[in-house]
Amino acid sequence: MRRKMIIANWKMNLSSKGSQNVARTIVSSIVKLSKEYERTLPTIVLCPSFSALSGVASITKKSNRKIKLGSQNCFWETSGSFTGEESPQYLAELGVEYAIIGHSERRMLLKESDDMIQRKVRILCQQSAIIPIICVGENKNERSANVYRKVIKQQVRAAIFPLRKPINSRRPLIIAYEPIWAIGTGIACSVKECARIYALIRGILARELGSAYDAEWSAVLYGGSVSKKNIMEFVQPNVSDGVLVGGASLDAKTFNEMVRCLAKESV
Ligand code: PGA
Repeated sequence: MRRKMIIANWKMNLSSKGSQNVARTIVSSIVKLSKEYERTLPTIVLCPSFSALSGVASITKKSNRKIKLGSQNCFWETSGSFTGEESPQYLAELGVEYAIIGHSERRMLLKESDDMIQRKVRILCQQSAIIPIICVGENKNERSANVYRKVIKQQVRAAIFPLRKPINSRRPLIIAYEPIWAIGTGIACSVKECARIYALIRGILARELGSAYDAEWSAVLYGGSVSKKNIMEFVQPNVSDGVLVGGASLDAKTFNEMVRCLAKESV
């Protein structure tokens, strides 16, 4: 059975100390929970800001690999004159196993293009063991203009281009559908619509990757105003394989409850 996923994206909301405090509470609760739900515990990834990574790593290390570390971004080269950027190699040294790539906040505020995202996916897949969590999703205008399927298709195709040839077999591929209008607004996508986009993305992966596509090792997540109230709606089969959580992951107690729901439901 494939484990569900829950990814905490803390964005730029917690200091290093604050991140460690939240991580400590999460680790102690999940270690206990894992004894009860060993088989069904979801894959849990915490993504603090860069400055908090090493502090949080020292805490997640104590979780007996039940909680993984992720970064919120990385650069498309491993070293060189790239002031202010972060190398996937250096991130891996800190214990980072996942990296969020192409989050809509970076696409919008930092003008990250499909080409940049493609380069990041390429370096991660060719020169590192870090698994990219590729974010895609349309904005409000694209949804109203009914061009959102085209937008999602374009973003997915560009990002997975480097994966057309199997680089590393049995390596997870994660796409997170995060409609921009649902992020931080309290208005989540409807479950029905989420299921449609899930099918759309799965179809694109199968078509574009051909024999390199491994459905079992691919996950399509949903993100955008996921809360402890609606989380279970989104993790039904063929709606999503897990969730990317922003605001609701900042509170350790809420996050722990969400993890517990996932673990219990999968029993
Ligand atoms: P949200 O953020 O859960 O606060 O809507 C999700 C995200 O941006 O990843």
